[in-house]
Amino acid sequence: MNNETTPEVTSISRRKFLRDTAYTAAGIGAFGILSSKAQSPQSGKTLKVAVVGCGQRGLAALGDFQEAARILGHNVEVVALCDVFEDRAKQSAEKSRVDPSRSHWGFDSYKKAAASDAEFVIMATPPNFRPVHFDAMVKAGKHSFVEKPVAVDPVGARAMLASGELAKQKGLAAIVGTQRRYDAGYLRNKAKIDAGAIGPILGGTVSWNHRVPWIKERQANWSDAEYLVRNWLNFTELSGDHVAEQLIHNLDVANWFIGRTPQAFLGYGSRIRRVTGNQFDFFSCDVDYGDGVHIHSMCRQINGTYMNIGEFFRGAEGQCNGGGKLTGKEVAIEEPKLESPISGVQEHVELIKGVLAGKPLNTIKEGTEATLASIGMRISAYTGQLVRWTDMTVNTKSPFYALQLSPTALDFEHDTVVMPSEAPALPGEPWHKKA
Ligand SMILES: NC(=O)c1ccc[n+]([C@@H]2O[C@H](COP(=O)([O-])OP(=O)(O)OC[C@H]3O[C@@H](n4cnc5c(N)ncnc54)[C@H](O)[C@@H]3O)[C@@H](O)[C@H]2O)c1
Repeated sequence: MNNETTPEVTSISRRKFLRDTAYTAAGIGAFGILSSKAQSPQSGKTLKVAVVGCGQRGLAALGDFQEAARILGHNVEVVALCDVFEDRAKQSAEKSRVDPSRSHWGFDSYKKAAASDAEFVIMATPPNFRPVHFDAMVKAGKHSFVEKPVAVDPVGARAMLASGELAKQKGLAAIVGTQRRYDAGYLRNKAKIDAGAIGPILGGTVSWNHRVPWIKERQANWSDAEYLVRNWLNFTELSGDHVAEQLIHNLDVANWFIGRTPQAFLGYGSRIRRVTGNQFDFFSCDVDYGDGVHIHSMCRQINGTYMNIGEFFRGAEGQCNGGGKLTGKEVAIEEPKLESPISGVQEHVELIKGVLAGKPLNTIKEGTEATLASIGMRISAYTGQLVRWTDMTVNTKSPFYALQLSPTALDFEHDTVVMPSEAPALPGEPWHKKA
């Protein structure tokens, strides 16, 4: 099984895409840019790109990058396809009609992308590798597209913020695959909320309740490292748990629409019947945004249960369902058009346009804040403790500040992987047993 059924992109229907094409990109102003239908400054360029992590998403994101380049009138040359596994790297080259000499494998294969002449690098490995890979790409002068989540623990998240700042200083673009920020329905509602359509947001709900995407049973000839990487979606050390893997999108919308990051998390969760790994089956958390604004944040991966994915916000003068129906005051908003009705393509359009216009887009801060919101929620549910935003960001005395899950990305690279326990976290136990 694979996770192609993960409804991250498919949750937004084609009909809705087409309907929304007519609407605004004003909310993209949140990232300091405004979209326009104009072509890139130059057209007919050949954009060199590399991919690190050639799984379902890596190749799909490459396709989105190619489509974005096509829309803007440019060509794409794939210069490196990097994966841990030789067969994946070679098959990706075959699928993408790329010369096999451009495929690389191994835990250090990302270094081939960094050393290549790629201008852009797409990173879509499991998220525990992201901080190390992104840092290498920024130091090598690459423009980055990094998939969400961007880290699995506070140490990794702070490393991402530091590398994101370095990217800014070096004039490099770096964007995170939180694609709701490039969807016309969400952009329109964000613009309306900012214009006062529902009044100040007072509270709401975000959710990703679905089924278990996939599991991989261990094979006798697999090392611990191979098993962990092949079954990464079920191990917190690699995925951050599904609260980070999936609910991150909805928490990102909450951060974006409310306009600030949470202050504290008080969460619950448990593991009842997952068959592999050590993640929880469900989470429920009070996310306190301060000033009396609370969001109920929940996610579940249990087959056969009610499924819903989305966001709801109640304002003083109206209400809003994520990128859908908004009821409130009539407000005027600017409605420039997006180049693509598909948010996953539009994000690459913005990446390429920004680079070619000399105004590189950098959304690492927003993507990391969404990641940290999901990590704060997980730490609270795993430990049973109240977790403050500052515990993960500035309070060096907090036990959660230095939390780094193990094995780390470098353990995989240096062959020092020690198999983590498959026993789930027990709230009330000392935090360091698992968070
Ligand atoms: N934004 C979206 O719509 C969206 C959708 C799906 C997945 N994602 C994200 O993309 C990432 C990958 O998800 P996926 O579904 O493609 O998983 P996947 O398992 O299909 O692919 C991951 C690939 O990375 C490779 N890999 C693992 N560790 C590596 C390393 N250290 N170096 C190089 N390659 C490595 C694996 O062999 C595999 O081919 C995750 O972070 C996920 O959350 C985002």
